[in-house]
Amino acid sequence: MSHPLVIANWKMNIPSGGISGWIQNEMISSNDEVDFENKSSYFKFMGIAPPTSHLTELRNLFNFGFLGVQDISKYYDGAKTGDISADMVIEKGCSFSILGHSERREFYNETNSIVSEKLRVCLEKDIMPVVCIGESLEIYNAGKTLDILEIQLKEIFTSISTKKTAVIAYEPVWAIGSGKTPTTDEVNNIHQHIKDIVQSIANIEAVNVIYGGSVNCDNAKSFFQQTNIDGALIGGASLDGKDFLGIYNDFMETL
Ligand code: 13P
Repeated sequence: MSHPLVIANWKMNIPSGGISGWIQNEMISSNDEVDFENKSSYFKFMGIAPPTSHLTELRNLFNFGFLGVQDISKYYDGAKTGDISADMVIEKGCSFSILGHSERREFYNETNSIVSEKLRVCLEKDIMPVVCIGESLEIYNAGKTLDILEIQLKEIFTSISTKKTAVIAYEPVWAIGSGKTPTTDEVNNIHQHIKDIVQSIANIEAVNVIYGGSVNCDNAKSFFQQTNIDGALIGGASLDGKDFLGIYNDFMETL
């Protein structure tokens, strides 16, 4: 694993106690075992992707781990109303971007080809891409998960050549926010296939595959214990600082 990561994806939400509440009351004071002052290296595998509007506040209050965005423009600058460019997010201290989340695919018609363009921008600008792929319940039930993932990966990664790290987040659409997950063995096998497929279609120095979809304090460790699961992308449970830190601690224990 060159770059395992546990990422909080807050989506369009702010934790109920606000950002300072999330950090001070829930995350930090909830865990006495971690010496937050002296162990900033402890957070080197933690990423947080808040709404872009809250990047500065978060960075000012919590100067650890990686800051990231939930999406990025495929354009570099200019008349693209609503977009935020790679240079702009770098200026805010971000070092990764989630790309092609299933919610962007569903609500904004984002296609694999758009995700591929964004991937190229990220690699060029030195932003670590966290590329989301995943299947619908219908596809899962039909036993066609690997076929769909292969199509997604080919459309996004073919002919990519880079010495940088790419992170792929396997997020079955039916597992997101549903409380349902595939078994840890299933996820482990799928991650192995994802790594094999990407190695066969692209020239990427390091590929890490993380899992997302209903990860919580109770099930996180069993995912992290699998050899091909290099971390997690966490939605709902990341809004509770205590839960998110608990998941992160589980991850650190299994490294
Ligand atoms: P949940 O953890 O809420 O299922 O969300 C997963 C997700 O979409 C992370 O990007």
